[in-house]
Amino acid sequence: VFDHIEFDEHEHVAFCHDKETGLKAIIAVHNSHLGPALGGCRMWPYANSDEALNDVLRLSKGMTYKAAMANLNQGGGKAVIIGDPRAIKTPEMMLAMGRFVESLSGKYISAEDSGMSVADLRIMAEETTHISGTKANYHFAGEEADGNPAPSTAYGVFTGVKASVEYYFGTGLQGKKIAIQGLGHVGYRLAEHLHREGAELFVADIYPEGINRAKEKLNAKIVSPDEILKLDVDVVAPCAMGATINRQSISTLKAKVIAGAANNQLETESLGEILKGEGILYAPDYVINAGGIIDIYHQKMLSSNEALKSHLEKIGATLMEVYKRADEQNLATNRVANTIAEEKFKK
Ligand code: NAI
Repeated sequence: VFDHIEFDEHEHVAFCHDKETGLKAIIAVHNSHLGPALGGCRMWPYANSDEALNDVLRLSKGMTYKAAMANLNQGGGKAVIIGDPRAIKTPEMMLAMGRFVESLSGKYISAEDSGMSVADLRIMAEETTHISGTKANYHFAGEEADGNPAPSTAYGVFTGVKASVEYYFGTGLQGKKIAIQGLGHVGYRLAEHLHREGAELFVADIYPEGINRAKEKLNAKIVSPDEILKLDVDVVAPCAMGATINRQSISTLKAKVIAGAANNQLETESLGEILKGEGILYAPDYVINAGGIIDIYHQKMLSSNEALKSHLEKIGATLMEVYKRADEQNLATNRVANTIAEEKFKK
């Protein structure tokens, strides 16, 4: 999300090299004014430790903003493990990671991210209590709950798309044309919610499974991955990887609203001003996709299903606040979201 990052913004950065298990990991706590730092643990074959450090600093900072905008009493943190999860991950390494998390005495609470599974977190939890995302005891969507927050992320994005359409068009979702890029854990569930509200769906993925199911069950039209962001639709929902909104894709974008799940959707922050200039409403990614962190928080608090659902539904109201302020102050929505978040966590 952030173009440039300073090391000195962070409260605590810890390094671990456990020779016995081969664990090389970094934990970064960006800011804990609102509460202990919550954020996933990512395992990735970083080329070197500089790259890993840069990633953990950037990601932990993003978590502070995300938690603040989701009105959580949590700060922002993140952990990275250096290495290819398919090649070097072992239960012993996960136990060592659990001990590393424990060594911060609750300053950082770990959860799932790329390269890590709920099963890995459960092993880490043998060594530390500072873990969340292993025991969802609910899911309002009636799904089997295993701790994976994707259903909550999808529901949060859905409420965000609804609010964005209401703000821009002054209407509901009925008959709105919506293009979804990526029908994975979040994108497919988002498609289901939108279909129920009467939206007309266009979908793309690089694998056939999700899009074929959406065609059959949700009457969605399949589009090639190259075309999905160029369609003449009302909304595009990036739900695949980051940086898909860049100068090139903006030059062919016809949609009036961008509202989806992917992290780091804008290739650079300054694209926010370009979108604003084009009259395109952009739902800041970390505001609209906060359902995952909200779910993890409620798992940790062992709160009720209703509390989770009503918290997720507040994402729409938060986006409305961002949009109104952006209009009043003639600023890009991503800049306004950053300012509101800073007002909350820098208090
Ligand atoms: P996923 O890996 O289940 O789904 C991503 C889908 O995008 C896959 O089906 C993949 O084949 C597809 N894809 C990849 N490249 C593509 C391309 N060029 N064009 C079209 N489709 C493409 O991931 P998930 O969990 O659904 O997450 C989606 C996005 O949302 C990611 O950016 C993730 O970081 C973000 N996110 C996810 C959260 C969660 O709770 N799972 C929480 C917050 C953000």
